[in-house]
Amino acid sequence: MSAIRSVVRGVGAYLPSRTLTNADLALMVDTSDEWIVQRTGISERHIAADGELTSDLALHAARAALADAGLDAQDIDLIVLATSTPDNTFPATAVSVQAGLGITHGAAFDLQAVCSGFVFALATADNFLKSGAYKRALVIGAETFSRILDWSDRTTCVLFGDGAGALVLEAVSEGEEGRGVLTTHLRSDGRHKNKLYVDGGVSSTKTVGYLRMEGREVFRHAVGMITDVIEDAFKATGESAASIDWFVPHQANRRIIDASAVKLGIAPEKVVITVDHHGNTSAASIPLALAAAYADGRIKKGDLVLLEAMGGGFTWGSALVRW
Ligand SMILES: CC(C)(COP(=O)(O)OP(=O)(O)OC[C@H]1O[C@@H](n2cnc3c(N)ncnc32)[C@H](O)[C@@H]1OP(=O)(O)O)[C@@H](O)C(=O)NCCC(=O)NCCS
Repeated sequence: MSAIRSVVRGVGAYLPSRTLTNADLALMVDTSDEWIVQRTGISERHIAADGELTSDLALHAARAALADAGLDAQDIDLIVLATSTPDNTFPATAVSVQAGLGITHGAAFDLQAVCSGFVFALATADNFLKSGAYKRALVIGAETFSRILDWSDRTTCVLFGDGAGALVLEAVSEGEEGRGVLTTHLRSDGRHKNKLYVDGGVSSTKTVGYLRMEGREVFRHAVGMITDVIEDAFKATGESAASIDWFVPHQANRRIIDASAVKLGIAPEKVVITVDHHGNTSAASIPLALAAAYADGRIKKGDLVLLEAMGGGFTWGSALVRW
């Protein structure tokens, strides 16, 4: 019996219509376009409208991914949705998406690994598909980080944005030109949990809380963690910086992305950047970047695509996908 691979069938994205520029932010806190661009590479980000929920963003992205795959919602039997900004404490935002799509079979659940959420969700769905438990999965990253930002804190509020992206994965017998998720590597180390966190929660304060971050500490660890887990992906597959077609990193900060690419020896023209227009959309950033590079024709069938993320926890992970 041949092994099962999870093949990408479709990709979709959604960004709220409202954009917030660095100039807009300079009217709200003591900052400047120059400071934000120089330190982060971010020029603007999208912000969800009042009443526009994480599940609304996710549903738009999911529908776009299904349309791209040429599949009907009823073809999906698994939804894994990565978010740190769910609609409610429970039920899972994934079940709202499931209901919105009119699906009543299979399973839908949320997964929380902050900015690494999409890579964790992809690995989870991939393992369910490879086990034979499910046939087709929607893997979604969706966030409304604007709701957990302290808009008076210039050290954090300039960095994040809202959005959603989704992939449709299908379990196929190995052999379709080597396509599919080739390897995933997930890590976490809770000793760093106080370096990037939200200062409220159900069990601690009974409030939602605001994002807090030791920016320099996060920066200090990011490049090493990212490159370690990518080296693991290369070791597991025999691939290398030279053989990948596209590097689609979590879009937190241009300087972290550039430093990681340099350390790994990945050519700048292979790096997909969306942080300039999206900011850091946490779990949504990788599928948003994938959707952008796929829509403009850069990522094509058969390309070798390297994904990577690092975030609160710390959590970090990588995935290599033959598109
Ligand atoms: C947040 C980050 C951009 C800050 O850049 P930095 O070079 O480390 O800057 P510092 O925090 O040392 O602050 C430098 C100065 O800029 C000021 N500053 C901070 N935010 C500012 C802003 N938005 N506008 C203007 N000045 C700002 C600080 O107050 C500080 O001033 P001081 O020297 O008078 O004390 C950077 O640390 C970073 O990118 N960290 C990683 C964050 C990240 O990606 N998190 C998500 C991971 S998933």
